Amino acid sequence: MWNFPIAPPQASNFASEFDALFGLLTFLTIFFTAVVGLVVLFFVTKFRRGRTANRSAPVNDHLKLELVWTIIPTLLGLAVFVWGAKLYIQMRTPPKDAYEVFVIGKQWMWHVQHPNGVRENNELHVPIGVPVRLTMISQDVIHGFYIPAFRIQYHVVPGRYTTQWFTPSKEGKYPLFCTILCGTQHSEMGGYVYALPQPKFSAWLANGGNRFQKPALTLGDQGKQLFDKLACTNCHGTQDTLRGPSLAGLYGKTRRFTDGSSVVVDESYLRESIINPYNRITQGYEKTMPVYLYKKQVSEENIRQLIEHIKSLGQPAAPTVAQQLESMAVRPAASSANR
Ligand code: CUA
Repeated sequence: MWNFPIAPPQASNFASEFDALFGLLTFLTIFFTAVVGLVVLFFVTKFRRGRTANRSAPVNDHLKLELVWTIIPTLLGLAVFVWGAKLYIQMRTPPKDAYEVFVIGKQWMWHVQHPNGVRENNELHVPIGVPVRLTMISQDVIHGFYIPAFRIQYHVVPGRYTTQWFTPSKEGKYPLFCTILCGTQHSEMGGYVYALPQPKFSAWLANGGNRFQKPALTLGDQGKQLFDKLACTNCHGTQDTLRGPSLAGLYGKTRRFTDGSSVVVDESYLRESIINPYNRITQGYEKTMPVYLYKKQVSEENIRQLIEHIKSLGQPAAPTVAQQLESMAVRPAASSANR
């Protein structure tokens, strides 16, 4: 059989709709290019010099025709816009209970960390039928995380978290790329994504991933160790003290600041508070936290560990990854997997 695929395999919940929209745009473009081209050719031929065509009554305006070629393309354009916007919003809105994976981009590799502490380099293992949310950051320049088979791509920038999500729908090994020119080895910054059935994925994760070495500590536990080592508890204990506010139960709550503004505490705010604590001072407090101390001492990975630990403070015990996957498996995975 002649095998000439014009698109990568469709391996995520977004792929078929993405391709349908892309197909529609391609069809409309080719269709109207052909129609306009043919009409031009027709008139060029009919009225070319030397032809005895009737030129006695040139048409200067034709309201009906103008309305037709204005209204129809406008409606088509709007339809494409509405469909595109709907799909875009869907792609930018990860489900709350998604399985979370942390991604660091750096010149020139991808570093991946799972919640239970399993690490991967230039590889990403994901479970089929489960929404996966990538929280991404760069250690140096701007990169782009792209999995063509999943039809997802988003910038990975230094200094702030970006996210994207997908639900893998088809078992397989798919290439992953960096899409932003990020230096001499940009073209080699990539690897493979492995979409595994849930039991296989759970086993892979429980066995410590590719290294077959059970990680001793989860991300949050690593964060707790660091939290103690950096002596964060001296000021941030289980109760508010004069020196610093307690961090217990902070995640997801509203925090008010001395300038009257407020924010619902999320990962970006926690990250900012660790490395730039003076950007926003919590009401009732002053500039007492050492500013550049922590910025120098902690890497992006460390910050991520601290955040995972802070998220767990004062919250009911987080479900284990196995429990999380199990609860997800109960849902009608097929409907979310491929629509
Ligand atoms: Cu990283 Cu291109």
